[in-house]
Amino acid sequence: MKVKTVEDLPVEGRRVLVRVDYNVPLDDAGAIGDDTRIRATVPTLRYLLSRRASLILVSHLGRPKGKVVEGLRLDPVARRLSQILERPVAKVNDCLGPDAEAAVRSLGPGDVLLLENVRFHPEEEANDPEFARDLAAWAEAYVNDAFSTAHRAHASTVGVAAYLPSAAGLLMVKELDALGRLLEGLERPFTAVLGGAKVADKMGMIRNLPADVVILGGGLANTFLRAQGKDMGGSRVETDKLDQAREIMAHLRSRGVRLVLPVDAVAAPEIREKVSCRTVPVGRIPAGWQALDIGARTLELIRPGILNARTVFWNGPVGVYEVPAFACGSIMLARTIVEDSGADGGRFTVIGGGDAMAVSVRAGIADQVSHLSTGGGASLEFLEGRTLPGVEALASEA
Ligand code: 3PG
Repeated sequence: MKVKTVEDLPVEGRRVLVRVDYNVPLDDAGAIGDDTRIRATVPTLRYLLSRRASLILVSHLGRPKGKVVEGLRLDPVARRLSQILERPVAKVNDCLGPDAEAAVRSLGPGDVLLLENVRFHPEEEANDPEFARDLAAWAEAYVNDAFSTAHRAHASTVGVAAYLPSAAGLLMVKELDALGRLLEGLERPFTAVLGGAKVADKMGMIRNLPADVVILGGGLANTFLRAQGKDMGGSRVETDKLDQAREIMAHLRSRGVRLVLPVDAVAAPEIREKVSCRTVPVGRIPAGWQALDIGARTLELIRPGILNARTVFWNGPVGVYEVPAFACGSIMLARTIVEDSGADGGRFTVIGGGDAMAVSVRAGIADQVSHLSTGGGASLEFLEGRTLPGVEALASEA
């Protein structure tokens, strides 16, 4: 689907409503854990500022369900954005109402205003047309740079586009190009490495990705291994998804896709640091113990599938990477993905989802990946082949 881009939109000296996704992790003290999503919008913001536009930024944070939740205000985000942009970022405590109106009216060219968490209003998720019209009234143009929220048909991601000249921001365009390359016109062989805890999240994507090799790890792999009849001890297995896993395996076989499952696991009786753990073959996990990471033999097994590929996509950790004792598999995997993948003719690598992104940062390889996607659920839906409503709203007639 072709979308209009910010470079096609007349923005010179105009007030521009920019939908960003500043849904960033906050710790208990309200400090931002990872600001990747904020930094990822900077090219679009700088582009608009270079055209003397006034920016009115709108975002959600968390799931406040239509009510004001003090811990989900966007003040820490405004402060971080101001540091990153090295210019003041004004912030108001509502996205509509008299304070927002006064702040919008006082904007001059090159000023930046961040509206309050748009999900404090129930009308946002309901995609209420009047609410969308009221938001749109702040601006003369609309730019959607929130790829990671494009799978939500909300007022600020879809509704406002009906009232303003609209276009995709530079991050949105980059995400659509990179993820689009995994579906069409890709260089083969294409290897997809999928992990994470839940089978249901990944089923549609496993089915739709035109991969030559599919490597599974993490909790996802446990369910597939059990479906093959392996004893997984006390590992997390989704027993209600065993038939679905068998059906997916048959589907991959019928398409000639090579499926690679772990052959060994780092297992422990519980998930905590300094617990006694052992690497054991899958199928021989002691009773009551859980598979919490892939083992060294599995890492050796998956290496050729990655190193021989021309295109690699990775989503979801292959172990409980949050606990250092079980992070090794995910970190080594991240390093393998970029091994010998020089910019000139190396393999095209895409890493998606918050957890794989966090591992990439920890492994020190984030800047060596062709594309680090900010999208979690949105990238999964996109790669399942679904049309994202936030993208559809920006479709160009051309
Ligand atoms: C995300 O983090 O995936 C996006 O910000 C969307 O958030 P949501 O799942 O709460 O709609």
